[in-house]
Amino acid sequence: MKPNLPYCLIAWISVMMLIPTWGAHKCLAMDEGGCLTCHQYPGLTGPETPEGFKVFHIDEERYLASPHGKTDCRKCHTTVHRVPHVGETSTNCANGCHTDEKDKKLIAECDLKTMHAGEKSFVTHLSEESSCRECHGLYTHRSNELARAFINMHVGFMTCETCHINRDKFKPLTYDWASSETADFAGKPFGARFNPKIGEGSGSAHFISRIAVFTEVNGERRPLQNTWDTQKAREYLGQKNQLEPDEKKKQLDYFHRDLHKMEVSVTCNECHSEHSILDLGRLGFSEKKTRDLIYINIKGLVTKYKTFYLPDMFRQ
Ligand code: HEC
Ligand code: HEC
Ligand code: HEC
Ligand code: HEC
Ligand code: HEC
Repeated sequence: MKPNLPYCLIAWISVMMLIPTWGAHKCLAMDEGGCLTCHQYPGLTGPETPEGFKVFHIDEERYLASPHGKTDCRKCHTTVHRVPHVGETSTNCANGCHTDEKDKKLIAECDLKTMHAGEKSFVTHLSEESSCRECHGLYTHRSNELARAFINMHVGFMTCETCHINRDKFKPLTYDWASSETADFAGKPFGARFNPKIGEGSGSAHFISRIAVFTEVNGERRPLQNTWDTQKAREYLGQKNQLEPDEKKKQLDYFHRDLHKMEVSVTCNECHSEHSILDLGRLGFSEKKTRDLIYINIKGLVTKYKTFYLPDMFRQ
């Protein structure tokens, strides 16, 4: 596919101009390629497979403190020129460094896959009684290659229903903190586990607080996180190989009866905009964090561009 130059260039420039306003990003010289614009986020993970899952987070501070902290990402990652770049794992250690035979021999013996192992944070385990999790696991998003890692990251911030509930079926809806859940992290704990409303005590590395969706029945608040079908879901998994296709479909329709089919272009903007369905201030996010979340422009990349070319493409 041929890039549409002016379009891509404008998109890129507008992204680069926004970087200084993004909370976590400090615009450091070693990241001239803007890779950390996306890779700075803890919890950025690929889909779960029987072999495990990939984690794409690169912690800026830890990267800086690593032996390659002063090396530009693109010095090694010579084949990443556009977004998305799923499967771009090739790296070149002899691109101006490590050119002598002794280094080459040493490198041949290294496990390069562990290069960034100490620079990642993600949720490894989350205890919840959600029916969804019985069948879908923790990092279930896979079909949208550009957005999936960002969506998977939100599983550490909110329950599945916060995004997936059918909003026409339940009214009124409110969004608030669920009670704390037990969680384990690799790297540093992160995210909305710091339920600003419960303050002290939620700082433990083994708890997480997430945003959930509630409705009202006869003046009483009712949580919509599905925990009532969990046992049925286990039974379904135990017998699904014996079920006829019709029966399978009927059961799956039942488990999904309260959900809404989603379009990624709708969802990001529904929370990350001035008309957010979440009242971020009332939830307790600071003014600065609220501004960051509303004006974050990552969604522009995820929603507007199917393929996005990084600037060094234009020099070729
Ligand atoms: C010294 C060389 C080098 C530098 C510099 C470097 N990387 Fe890597 N990176 C690697 C290697 C080697 C791998 C493992 C590739 C594989 O899967 O075989 C890797 C893997 C990755 C992965 C995939 C996840 C993983 O850990 O396997 C991401 C994402 C990534 N790098 C991002 C970055 C970003 C962002 C920067 C700059 C902040 C950066 N890298 C700088 C060598 C480097
Ligand atoms: C617009 C956001 C964005 C930018 C900018 C970005 N990446 Fe990525 N990158 C991602 C996402 C999202 C993934 C995970 C893809 C997936 O779900 O498999 C990823 C995955 C990767 C991987 C792992 C590929 C794999 O399949 O194992 C590497 C390596 C990588 N990025 C390096 C870089 C480098 C180097 C740069 C800067 C030149 C960069 N990225 C810039 C969003 C971005
Ligand atoms: C009993 C197992 C089971 C349970 C429980 C379950 N799912 Fe699923 N889900 C599946 C399977 C299997 C598919 C893929 C087949 C299909 O499209 O129906 C699927 C598909 C989906 C899809 C994609 C539908 C589409 O339109 O393409 C979404 C979204 C989803 N599930 C979300 C959820 C959420 C949220 C929950 C919890 C409320 C949940 N699921 C509970 C098994 C389950
Ligand atoms: C931040 C909002 C958000 C959260 C939280 C979320 N999802 Fe999704 N989900 C989406 C969006 C958006 C899509 C559509 C992605 C696309 O294909 O463009 C989606 C798609 C899916 C699909 C379709 C399959 C696929 O490969 O993408 C399944 C299954 C699913 N979600 C299940 C879940 C489950 C289970 C949870 C809780 C563990 C969950 N989701 C939490 C936003 C969310
Ligand atoms: C239901 C509301 C909701 C939806 C939908 C949603 N987000 Fe978020 N997002 C949040 C909240 C809340 C946080 C902050 C969590 C925290 O740090 O505690 C967040 C955090 C983020 C962050 C990290 C920002 C930071 O400064 O820590 C990024 C990046 C992001 N979202 C991108 C996206 C993208 C891309 C989509 C669409 C695929 C999306 N979000 C959909 C509510 C949402």
